[in-house]
Amino acid sequence: MTVQIAPSILAADFARLADEAAAVAGVADWLHVDVMDGHFVPNLTIGLPVVEALRKHASLPLDCHLMIEDPDRWAIGYAEAGARKLTIHAEAVQSPVRTLRMIRAAGARAGLAVNPATPVEPYADLLDEVDMLLLMTVEPGFGGQPFLDLVLPKLRRAAALIAARGGSVWLQVDGGVSEETIGRCAEAGADVFVAGSAVFGADDPARAVSGLRSLAASTGPGLSRH
Ligand code: DX5
Ligand code: ZN
Repeated sequence: MTVQIAPSILAADFARLADEAAAVAGVADWLHVDVMDGHFVPNLTIGLPVVEALRKHASLPLDCHLMIEDPDRWAIGYAEAGARKLTIHAEAVQSPVRTLRMIRAAGARAGLAVNPATPVEPYADLLDEVDMLLLMTVEPGFGGQPFLDLVLPKLRRAAALIAARGGSVWLQVDGGVSEETIGRCAEAGADVFVAGSAVFGADDPARAVSGLRSLAASTGPGLSRH
């Protein structure tokens, strides 16, 4: 398992995004960008123009998490804007196979996200269509919420589903990931970790990323998937 860390700029200073991105540039694997439309989730954050601007100023690849009502319509725009990974929500997408294929055809990695109460089993047959499965470990919409341990059994089941297919799909967790909780996620089989407040709320964001990475790597998965 290779640990990947994706700091979420939702917890960064929005007026200094380029500087905040630079603070984790050498140490993180992705820059996680939370796109919220005020409909799918009760919060409004970043849209296409900001993603386009960030791509020019941030050296890390952008991991765009679309928490929007109509991803079928908008996903392609984000892929064309330069998102290297684009995740859509199972609860919002109308035509997942078509939209996931469109994302891949545009040259981005395709991710499928599920909320805490959404099971993963109905999506098992879609695993060949995705590069990453995202299990939300909080209800989406806001940073700084407490980690939901109730997602851990589902994380183990998702890791087993992925392993049964040969293990090439990344398993991401997002929400409440911190020094205190990242070990539990790694043990349950996650390998891509989003962290907002644990990184940008720290005095030294780069050091926070390294700390999270070593904790995840030293805990390791309960299942060997790679
Ligand atoms: C929540 C977002 C997360 C959020 C995580 O809906 O998808 O990416 O930024 O923030 P923390 O790590 O503070 O829970
Ligand atoms: Zn997110």
